[in-house]
Amino acid sequence: MPRRSPHPACALAALLLFLLVPVAGAPAARPLPRPSRKAGPLHPLDLRCEYRADPLGIDKTAPRLSWKLESGRRGERQTAYRLLVASSREKLAREEGDLWDTGKVAGDQTSGLAYGGRPLTSRTACFWKVRAWDAKGEPSAWSEPATWSMGLLKREDWQAEWISYRDEAPLHKSRDALYLPPPRLYRTEFRAEKPVRRAVVYASALGIYELHLNGKRVGDALFTPGWSDYRRRAYYNAYDVTSLIAGGANALGAVVAEGWYSGYVGYGLLVGYGPNRVGRYFYGKTPALLAQLEIEYADGSRQTVASGREWKVTDRQPIREADIIMGETHDARLELPGWDRPGFDTAGWATAIRAAENGSTRAVYSDSAGDREVELGFVEPRLQAYSGPPIRSIEEIKPVRMLEPQPGTYIFDLGQNISGVARLKVKGPVGTRVQLRFGEMLHQDGRLMTENLRRARATDAYILRGDPEGETWQPRFTYHGFQYVELTGYPGKPGLDAVTGIVQHSDTPLASSFECSDPVMTRFYQNAVWTQRANFFEVPTDCPQRDERLGWMGDAQIYARAATYHADVAAFFTKWMDDVTEAQLPNGAYPDYAPYPMFHGSAAGYGTAWTDAGIICPYEIYRAYGDTEIIRRHWYSMKRFLAFRKRRSPTLRGVAAGNGWGDWLAVGQNTPIEFVDAAYFAYSAKLMAEMAEAIGAEADAAEYRKLFADVRARFTEDYVQPDGRLKVDTQTAYALGLWVGLFPEAQRPGAAARLAEMVGANNGRMATGFLGTRPLLPVLTANGQHELAGRLFQSREFPSWGYEVVNGATSVWERWNSYTKEGGFHNPSMNSFSHYAFGAVTEWMFQSLAGIDTDGPGYRRIIIRPGPPAADAGRKPEPVHWVKASYDSIQGKIASEWRRDGGKFELAVTVPANTTATVYLPASRRAGITEGGRSLDRAEAVRFLRMEPGRAVLEIGSGTYRFVSQAEK
Ligand code: BGC
Repeated sequence: MPRRSPHPACALAALLLFLLVPVAGAPAARPLPRPSRKAGPLHPLDLRCEYRADPLGIDKTAPRLSWKLESGRRGERQTAYRLLVASSREKLAREEGDLWDTGKVAGDQTSGLAYGGRPLTSRTACFWKVRAWDAKGEPSAWSEPATWSMGLLKREDWQAEWISYRDEAPLHKSRDALYLPPPRLYRTEFRAEKPVRRAVVYASALGIYELHLNGKRVGDALFTPGWSDYRRRAYYNAYDVTSLIAGGANALGAVVAEGWYSGYVGYGLLVGYGPNRVGRYFYGKTPALLAQLEIEYADGSRQTVASGREWKVTDRQPIREADIIMGETHDARLELPGWDRPGFDTAGWATAIRAAENGSTRAVYSDSAGDREVELGFVEPRLQAYSGPPIRSIEEIKPVRMLEPQPGTYIFDLGQNISGVARLKVKGPVGTRVQLRFGEMLHQDGRLMTENLRRARATDAYILRGDPEGETWQPRFTYHGFQYVELTGYPGKPGLDAVTGIVQHSDTPLASSFECSDPVMTRFYQNAVWTQRANFFEVPTDCPQRDERLGWMGDAQIYARAATYHADVAAFFTKWMDDVTEAQLPNGAYPDYAPYPMFHGSAAGYGTAWTDAGIICPYEIYRAYGDTEIIRRHWYSMKRFLAFRKRRSPTLRGVAAGNGWGDWLAVGQNTPIEFVDAAYFAYSAKLMAEMAEAIGAEADAAEYRKLFADVRARFTEDYVQPDGRLKVDTQTAYALGLWVGLFPEAQRPGAAARLAEMVGANNGRMATGFLGTRPLLPVLTANGQHELAGRLFQSREFPSWGYEVVNGATSVWERWNSYTKEGGFHNPSMNSFSHYAFGAVTEWMFQSLAGIDTDGPGYRRIIIRPGPPAADAGRKPEPVHWVKASYDSIQGKIASEWRRDGGKFELAVTVPANTTATVYLPASRRAGITEGGRSLDRAEAVRFLRMEPGRAVLEIGSGTYRFVSQAEK
């Protein structure tokens, strides 16, 4: 994980530590006794504000606070809490909650607690801690302190002006030649004459900015301020720069590149969308910067340094090209050492202008909604604090080998498909140009495979300054999806260390582990996690490599719940759902992808099951994190969506309108769009009813329950036959129908049997695409076909997940047949090797194989239901007979580790403090079940509930338990 800039508190602690460390030779000071984490019965930790650790510059005035609890005791829970929020660290240490002191509040709530203290105003720094009372009423020690700070909440708080360079370039016209203007450097100087108490810089850009202060890069976030519909709204970020301010002269600078604002976006160039059909300028023509540094001196006085017309700007700097999908070119001969330090000579630099001074340019904007005249000029966006986890460099990967398919062409294999960039290390003569290209696969003859990148040039270049000590370079405004890096123009023969892979993505903390007795499926889990990491990049993208990288809605809704098992994606979806609602179409439909700078495909701009992501994604976040705020925040928008759905289906039947992707990329069976649409209409209504209940909107809940029942009744009339067979006889049709709950009870077994029969008739293979694959294994397991689900899961035959792994995959492929050893690459132009959609099966791996699920929202109650497939000596591959999995939920860590050994079943389970779990333990009878070697009756915090066929049902409190039972083989 990346190194974070130290919190001021850490810096202070480090200083104290430094002072306390004994000098060599001096007698060692007696070490202070360290409080043990587990000393008290309960230990509150991992304090979060709006899902983030110590966030700066937030704009929610009632931010939600959460903590986790640890305990060394079984069956431990929180019976009360007290939370203090103070305006200074000192006050907090003195237990003065001058902003908010909840007093002792009875209750078990540990997440989503909305701040309810004194009104929070711009810039307020908040310091907080919490203590919890345990089951016996004993208080814990106070937690470690945590912080958050408020951003600039009002327009008037901004003295900074949006600034730009004078842009006289004509609008690019050619679709054949790329237009890649250089980023600009901006700078200003100021003096700080007094001791500084606190300095915070707030910044945004139309484009991507990187701030510098006194020769140092500010923060470690990439692609800031993030992607939104810049014509309406831009994000801003805040950074604590107290430690970077120097006494006397200071210099503040920024590099501003085009990013999503005016650079190439998606497949715009490929299909000729946007102004002049050139695939760029989707939001405007000229990038702009907004920056405001606020210094608070120890004497209470303040100073503001804000972007304005006295700033200087230049394009004479080393970065010659910087485009997210096309790549970056750096000419090190043009480097400007000291440009971001005070005293730099700006001769030859221009003076910045107000962004609006560039005026506007008229152009014809084209997409599938037709051609229309637009004004491409500065439009001041509404500012919103960035609420997601920033993109960062997360990890470095050393290549596993270097190939030389042609003399002078070197290919580095990272051994793993990732998103990010390559760092280059090189020594050679000044002016030497080294080119880097990126690919996910190689051709048979060893050449880099780039056909699947379509119009993404994905090429970086570095021109050497000729430093005899050698040079290293890493681009900052582009990223690629790749496993292989091709170097040409390298001076001499590179060593393996010439290239390092830098893994970059939104910094969603990883949350799980999964291993099982089948190494192929263990690898598949890793592939799924890697693919999620590669695509949770500012928005949930479909793929990281080709000219697309868009927040495709269908992919996101299929995968959202699986995503929650791999990483903490709560803040990520919180941010993206704002983009989704912003992109909602005037008719109430959610668009094909979000943000949505251009109309896609059918002029309707939506497709069934894609559009429903606006309902399904918030629902999955509510389920996984117990988050009702995401429902409330988008409620009006979601209601508008359902009203749209009703309007377009007056008979409450599915319709074939809009983009008809349906069961996208299914192999061999086609499920009609109107069928898919009926199922998704019902599904959206059903989830809305549940969400209405969650927020106490009773009337809405009743309305949507009725809507669900009515749509389901039409569905039954139209498709369901008395024996449970559907008139649409495809695997996906049954999978969707069972998943959404569309079969009358009497027909359900028949439907499930028919689904199993169809898989059998298809030689035991799936025939499902994006939409059918997600529910397939879950509905088989839920309907008595767990063995079949297990066989499909472990299959190595095409089409299957195992097939990808045995064909060398290190990530999840877009297509079941993206590559075969016999047939090579399928459909070269539309063939991503990093598409998470089919990876949604990991949801089943956690819920139905490891057996970790939530019972109700937010893992307050947990289900542990291990799903060992029956032993079958003849089956190849051998059925999974052990699993070891863990999941770091919003309540804390849950673990399930089981092993089937003949008739003996062992289960080690951990559930966090303040939760309870229902354990479904495979067992043929109650007698003989032990926990920690003792009979059940004597086990602490375990309650036997009942026997079900093949299982004992137990209730446990928090803690770790080891069960052994005798089960069916
Ligand atoms: C994307 C998909 C997406 C689809 C819509 C593709 O280009 O890569 O994953 O859902 O378009 O059919």
